[in-house]
Amino acid sequence: MTQPSTYHCLECGYATARWMGFCPQCRAQSSMVEGLRPVASAAVPVPIADLGEAGRPARAPSGMAEVDRVLGGGLVAGSIVLVGGEPGVGKSTLLLQMAAAMSSTGRVLYVTGEESAAQIGDRAERLGITGGGLEVLAETEVVPVERCVEMGGYRMVVVDSMQTMRVDDTAGTPGGVTQVREVGARLTALARRAGVPVVLVGHVTKDGSLAGPKVVEHLVDAVLYLEGDPDRGVRYLRGLKNRYGSVAQVGVFEMTGDGLVEVSDPSGLFVGDAIGLVPGTVVFPALCGRRTLLVEVQALVVPTGSPQPRRSVTGVPAGRVHQLLAVLHRHASLDCRSCDVFVSVVGGLVIDEPAADLAVALAIASSRLEKPLGPVGAMGEVGLAGEVRAVGGAADRRAELARFGFERMISGGGRRLVAEALLEAGLRPDRPRRLHSAGG
Ligand code: TYD
Ligand code: MG
Repeated sequence: MTQPSTYHCLECGYATARWMGFCPQCRAQSSMVEGLRPVASAAVPVPIADLGEAGRPARAPSGMAEVDRVLGGGLVAGSIVLVGGEPGVGKSTLLLQMAAAMSSTGRVLYVTGEESAAQIGDRAERLGITGGGLEVLAETEVVPVERCVEMGGYRMVVVDSMQTMRVDDTAGTPGGVTQVREVGARLTALARRAGVPVVLVGHVTKDGSLAGPKVVEHLVDAVLYLEGDPDRGVRYLRGLKNRYGSVAQVGVFEMTGDGLVEVSDPSGLFVGDAIGLVPGTVVFPALCGRRTLLVEVQALVVPTGSPQPRRSVTGVPAGRVHQLLAVLHRHASLDCRSCDVFVSVVGGLVIDEPAADLAVALAIASSRLEKPLGPVGAMGEVGLAGEVRAVGGAADRRAELARFGFERMISGGGRRLVAEALLEAGLRPDRPRRLHSAGG
């Protein structure tokens, strides 16, 4: 018995036992050829239980514990990580320090398209970096970088920055969308091919004059942002995307004359001495990955004659504050309609957990009523019906408050209402609302 001939479509791979003048699947003309389509890879499915340590990607510690915390344990071989941030926030400083730390055990390549090799040398000297296996390449073309990395031997490659690099045969100016996208794609392919972690720097500009990290975010394995409050010298490294770990982690650094210093126990940094003593301040225990950080939430509520009072919010989502103002008005008789309202989180940290609602609400009420709260912590999610819900991680949050001497805590859960929480905090609105009918 003879085997029936098999044909496949060159366009879409559709297979059939008899030849046809066009492909019945993709309708391409004259695309059917004899023989089965060659299989590109010999990958075979593996039972998930057999995927032990060996199946997981190899990670190299970055040499900086706060960076590893955010990366989820270190740099994965063949991965590409984007580090974004505003100009001057400290990206080059962070990556030079990281490159130096990694170069103690191997060769690291720092590609600078922005500063000259001599400038990098000066900075390294200022930071007390003596060498090891750290090599600097001043280059703005991608091809020489590819050639250099393909020769092998590097533990890590830093490219600073994606907006200064260009691919020769691609149109557009460096920093434009076309070039930035191509640079991202080429460096991603390079990381995979060479099996080396590549860290790419990307500036974020408010005026949009440069194509930002957004253009390549979908390509890369991890996106980290370096942010900070320039006045206080605190810098946060937070994950926005991470194929190899959680994005809830935050790394904390302090910019000093000797570069970035890791802050392994940052809680105290974000809480001022006067917290609770002046109206409008309260402490919130924020969960950042596996770490709890105490942060000071501040509000300032001042009467204004303006028909359009100001709402200025930093560090928490503005929409949340608008919602809390409406809930306080309806469910706690706290009227801020003719007041300017400012809300901020001290130290420049951005809190996006709803667990911060109650702290924000108490800070607003405390400022509106001009009554300090005393040394008290607050956590709870405030709903539209005025209820205060319990939040996750309560035990850890309590423990962190206690560690810093905040013994009192106002929280949600059960049938708690926001008006009750205000009363517990010693804040009595102008017309106290009657609470549960059961109690009278
Ligand atoms: P830089 O790393 O050049 O920022 P980016 O690469 O994100 O543009 O950092 C620039 C700022 O950091 C600059 O204002 C000076 C300050 N800095 C220090 O305060 N201490 C230091 O040791 C270094 C190297 C920089
Ligand atoms: Mg720089």
